[in-house]
Amino acid sequence: MINKIDPVIVALQEVDFKTNRVGTHFDFTKHPADRHCKSMKYNFDEIISRGNTFSVKYDGKKAYFGSADLIPMWVADMDFKTPPFITEAVKKRADQPIYGYSFRPDSYYNSLIEWFERKHGWEIKKEWILFTPGIVPALNMLVQTFTMPGNKVLVQPPVYHPFFSAIENNHRQLVNNPLTFKDGEYLIDFNDLAAKLSSGTKLVLFSNPHNPVGRAWNKEELKKLADLCVQNDVIVISDEIHCDLVLPGNKHISLTSVSEEIKDQVVTCISPSKTFNLAGMSTSSLVIQNDRLREKFELTIEQLHLDLGNLFGTVASIAAYTHGDTWLKQLLDYINGNVDFVEDFLKKRIPEVEMVRPEATYLIWMDFSGLRMDPEDLKFFLINMAKVGFNDGRTFGEGGEGFQRMNVACPRKIVEEALIRIEKAINDL
Ligand SMILES: Cc1ncc(COP(=O)(O)O)c(C=O)c1O
Repeated sequence: MINKIDPVIVALQEVDFKTNRVGTHFDFTKHPADRHCKSMKYNFDEIISRGNTFSVKYDGKKAYFGSADLIPMWVADMDFKTPPFITEAVKKRADQPIYGYSFRPDSYYNSLIEWFERKHGWEIKKEWILFTPGIVPALNMLVQTFTMPGNKVLVQPPVYHPFFSAIENNHRQLVNNPLTFKDGEYLIDFNDLAAKLSSGTKLVLFSNPHNPVGRAWNKEELKKLADLCVQNDVIVISDEIHCDLVLPGNKHISLTSVSEEIKDQVVTCISPSKTFNLAGMSTSSLVIQNDRLREKFELTIEQLHLDLGNLFGTVASIAAYTHGDTWLKQLLDYINGNVDFVEDFLKKRIPEVEMVRPEATYLIWMDFSGLRMDPEDLKFFLINMAKVGFNDGRTFGEGGEGFQRMNVACPRKIVEEALIRIEKAINDL
């Protein structure tokens, strides 16, 4: 079995970036942009070499894992092509060979506003939207803007690790409100949350949907959290970067939509970067409805001279928000298929390893505790014996021990190869 798939992996690692075509059944370069073609079938099975592209996920393997000989399924970007309506827009702009200072035009705001109304039923006003080069820089700037050194900032581990550094690097006090994990399900511990919000917490960093456990929080949960923040006068940064990546059968609800009162206390972080694979392009925004909070943050952005945006990121965002519906639908079906594949494979062939089925994101939170390995041994086993590169669960804080985060935004053959490697390595123990 391994031998049958190995050539694919060799291709993945070695195909020349310029020729990069392996196993494709459709050549987009010979086809006009698909914006009017609802029946266009995108090919997410295509394996594309990402080596030598300055990719953190691929070219940073050796530095991060100490080995380049593994399948990288860590950093949260996708191994799928950014869709052709985006690459064409970027190429068209690149053909005008002057790349001077740029601003975000009205067409940018309109495309974003219409996307959020269409997809999430959220009516955003243009004046609420502020540029930020990334959500992680924004988290840091928000912590600096809305709290003082020593103030308490709350997170819900296991959670996206830059939440911790945004607090600790800015010398604020980290307060953990760990999620509870029972019968395979992650929930918010509201009693603990209430106690911590009422004892001096100034700010909450909230992941909605939640990375890495994959929850798309429901209305009841969001309302409870919102009410507690309102009662205790606590500002919430709702990081909704994964909001478009809600898997079939689930729904994204914006925290700001659950009550009138919370609107004045929430900063929502959004970006087309995860949805359309544009993470290298600086395409993020903050939506701040409260004038006082927005003016305060605007000053921070202006002081750092970060308000102009990124030329190619703006062009890519307009194309994404304008033409992305069909592509996104197919992407989500494909990712859901990968999640089904992992679930089925684990049940049938690696029952020692369990997964928490994600409601959103292309990240699967995998429970390896059944292997009964010490966390360092588990890390060594996966990197050096199975030769797969996941994010170690401990990175995500309390509750992460024994878990690994697997990124399945890649062709299914690669997912299969990774699972076969784990199965074989377990059998070889
Ligand atoms: C919850 C969350 N927030 C933010 C980011 C990164 O945002 P940016 O690349 O805009 O800094 C990620 C990336 O994985 C994420 O999962």
